[in-house]
Amino acid sequence: MTSDADDPTAGSREWSTWRERVDLGEYDERWARMAAAGENPHGEADLVSRYGPASVLDAGCGTGRVGTELARRGIEVVGVDLDPDLLERARAKAPELSWHLSDLAALALGRTFDVVVMAGNVLGFVAAPDRAAAVASMAAHVAAGGRLISGCQLRAGWPTIDEYDGWCASGGLVLEDRFATWDRRPFGPNPDYAVSVHRRPS
Ligand SMILES: C[S@@+](CC[C@H](N)C(=O)[O-])C[C@H]1O[C@@H](n2cnc3c(N)ncnc32)[C@H](O)[C@@H]1O
Repeated sequence: MTSDADDPTAGSREWSTWRERVDLGEYDERWARMAAAGENPHGEADLVSRYGPASVLDAGCGTGRVGTELARRGIEVVGVDLDPDLLERARAKAPELSWHLSDLAALALGRTFDVVVMAGNVLGFVAAPDRAAAVASMAAHVAAGGRLISGCQLRAGWPTIDEYDGWCASGGLVLEDRFATWDRRPFGPNPDYAVSVHRRPS
């Protein structure tokens, strides 16, 4: 792993900057405020649920926002993140779930899942030299017939669509769907966000 800091749980410099700027309580409350305002805060969980998974790996789970909602819907969820503070919040919300402190690039759970989901720009925040390894590791956790679903902004310095598709192909995954948003708006010209669904053939 090639995270910018010596601490292997520190993440990329870009992630450290985000962490310095963001108040975690405020971050968690943002989704509750969305719900209170009548907006749907569960677009990611809704898309994942459409594929009918029995098991989901919430990769880069953060405070457990997506994973806890999927578990509430009856899906077996395992979360992984390299940030101990965020993981502690996830654990406090749902102590009955399995939460792992690990860099995605180094994860080896010895099992597979129907869906591995990277929600909320996870891959962009992985240190650039580790991104291919992180996708390889995530692909290795996708069951036959299962899916890797990732939503990430398309911006300078972050993975391009071609890079991401190439890493998925190296992991034996084929592109099934691509959307502009989690609520499946079409992926048109000049996109600034991509939700990609790759499948491992059965
Ligand atoms: C913007 S947050 C998204 C959190 C959550 N998925 C959500 O949608 O609310 C990005 C997450 O990626 C995690 N992350 C960044 N680099 C990582 C890495 N190399 N391995 C594991 N997690 C990583 C961060 O710790 C953070 O929790």
